[in-house]
Amino acid sequence: MSNLTFTMVKPDAVADGNLGAILKMIEGAGFRIKAAKLTRLTAETAGRFYAVHSERPFYGDLCQYMSSGPIVAAILEKDNAVADFRKLIGATNPANADEGTIRKIFAKSIEANAVHGSDSDENALIEGSFFFSQLEIVN
Ligand code: CMP
Repeated sequence: MSNLTFTMVKPDAVADGNLGAILKMIEGAGFRIKAAKLTRLTAETAGRFYAVHSERPFYGDLCQYMSSGPIVAAILEKDNAVADFRKLIGATNPANADEGTIRKIFAKSIEANAVHGSDSDENALIEGSFFFSQLEIVN
């Protein structure tokens, strides 16, 4: 899955009406949308998605926040997708994100940071499979 990555446009960005602008930046950077879904997580589902962070102090707040409104989940395709997408979105904490990155432009805080991007090919596959079946990924 090295040419694929997984993203979520998070509740703050969708609620603020930034979905279109964020998708435009993603497409403008050369990513093709292979699957996309507007959905809303429950706190329990968000907890399963972010289970890797279950011991972290921010886990409870993260589950509440991620279930606070609609999100858009998507699978993206591009050469070197995982690394290039993380470059496009910038650092987790928008205060540390480079100018011009999605988080620098749209994120409100380290938690409400506008978008998620997978951190490895392995996690891109796991996270993409959390939301989509093979049949939902277009050729
Ligand atoms: P994300 O890249 O989706 O991965 C984990 C999420 O937890 C992160 O973005 C933030 O939304 C959230 N989060 C909240 N506090 C922290 C923190 N101190 N460090 C890392 N992630 C945090």
